[in-house]
Amino acid sequence: MARIRACVFDAYGTLYDVHSAVRRLAAEIGPAAEPLSRDWRARQLEYSWVRSLMGRHVDFWTVTGEALDTAMALHGLEDNDLRRRLLDAYRRLSAYPEVTGVLRQLKSKGLAVGVLSNGSPEMLADAASSAGLDHWIDMTWSVEAVGVYKPDARVYQLACDGLRLAPEEISFQSSNRWDAAGAANFGFHVVWVNRAGLPDEYRFAGPVQAVTDLSYLANVIDPPVWRPAEA
Ligand code: LAC
Repeated sequence: MARIRACVFDAYGTLYDVHSAVRRLAAEIGPAAEPLSRDWRARQLEYSWVRSLMGRHVDFWTVTGEALDTAMALHGLEDNDLRRRLLDAYRRLSAYPEVTGVLRQLKSKGLAVGVLSNGSPEMLADAASSAGLDHWIDMTWSVEAVGVYKPDARVYQLACDGLRLAPEEISFQSSNRWDAAGAANFGFHVVWVNRAGLPDEYRFAGPVQAVTDLSYLANVIDPPVWRPAEA
């Protein structure tokens, strides 16, 4: 890891717990809460891939709403007020407990900290400020700059261009194994945050370093080698 100069993070599922939105309303939703949240997330990702393959991009906020409509219909939960409150909660997701401490440690080692996400710029700004992470994040790149979703290589290129670094100088962290695969295929050093203890997959795309949560990261990244890009 000696050549790593920046740590770039996936947002949803990696920094922010996507299931924290439904969890806040779980008492009201009842037993459908967990499958609703799982289907919401699965449809959200499916729609991002299908739209990218079709060349029919819309932003992630639109995709998130479309996915919620399907998930609510699947569970017989059509209710406009609940829909509105779930989407409100999705704008203010909880960060995983170790995140703030890890970002602080990485910055104290002199590393640049960035976020590279499918999320729209407005979603990512709301998420960072409501979780109190904005102070620790130096740069944020949204797929909106290229109009296509991960794992298209143009998305990962945004971080290289923004940091003026080669892919191998960037450590990319994602809990989404398919995103980790896209990043490894692109050439980043990749840390797969396997929070759920899932079996490995996508090995063809390149090596990833598996950890169980982000707290392992500060120990595996070598200290200060980051120099800000010249303007
Ligand atoms: C993101 C999705 C993959 O934040 O969770 O890009």
